[in-house]
Amino acid sequence: MLLAYNDNGPGPVVVLLHGFPLDRSMWSSQETTLGSVYRVITPDLRGHGQSAAPEGVYSIEAMAEDVIETLDALQVTEPVVLGGLSMGGYVALALVARYPERFRALLLIDTKAEADSPEAARGREELASTVEGSGNSGAVASAMLPKLFSETTRQRRPQLISEMRTVMEKTPARAVAGALRGMAARQDRTAELAQIAVPTLVLVGVDDAITPPDGAQKMAEAIPDALIVVVPDAGHLAPLENPQACNEAILHFLQGLG
Ligand code: MLT
Repeated sequence: MLLAYNDNGPGPVVVLLHGFPLDRSMWSSQETTLGSVYRVITPDLRGHGQSAAPEGVYSIEAMAEDVIETLDALQVTEPVVLGGLSMGGYVALALVARYPERFRALLLIDTKAEADSPEAARGREELASTVEGSGNSGAVASAMLPKLFSETTRQRRPQLISEMRTVMEKTPARAVAGALRGMAARQDRTAELAQIAVPTLVLVGVDDAITPPDGAQKMAEAIPDALIVVVPDAGHLAPLENPQACNEAILHFLQGLG
């Protein structure tokens, strides 16, 4: 499925995949900062933002295929830098496993390689049924928003939290349900981390309560050529909560690629 996307800037391509249930607008600071040097492509994953929202389960593999189809349509066939936040990171890991030749570096942001526990998968199914029953995404916004942000963001940037609620509530109920079921069924990629053969930067907010720094540290240790940066004053949405620190870390990493 072809995705909606932003595509701005000159130079080597950097593709950034947003988290659940957000959209490409979460990368606006990275588009501005990286976009003076890099061609930054930010798709809306299926069901999110302006991309179509089919019925059914949104498997991570289907979301990954959408990204490839969209890059092919843009005639981007050279190896690119691929980044993903949380659900976007699950898609990025699937892409690197399936199409290693298409990627030259990886940014894993507030994400993890493990599958859901049976309990977590059950919780997602309950939430998917609630959202389908109500016909809107309010329940997922209410479930997620309390866990997403650092205390610093809560105190200093409450408007960011209401902006994220607005984005979440725009995501159609069938897309939220489809993505929840896809994430619940995703495969564990921990054993594949040792096979990642491209330079990798792991970024994690110091107060990330969903994919915490100790898990990110283990993930980075399992990837042969990985660096980790723990982002201060940030929770699970580090690139939004502390864009300056994230952008500096990403630029430094990208410049090191040559
Ligand atoms: C996300 O931010 O994309 C979600 O927290 C991912 C998840 O629910 O596993």
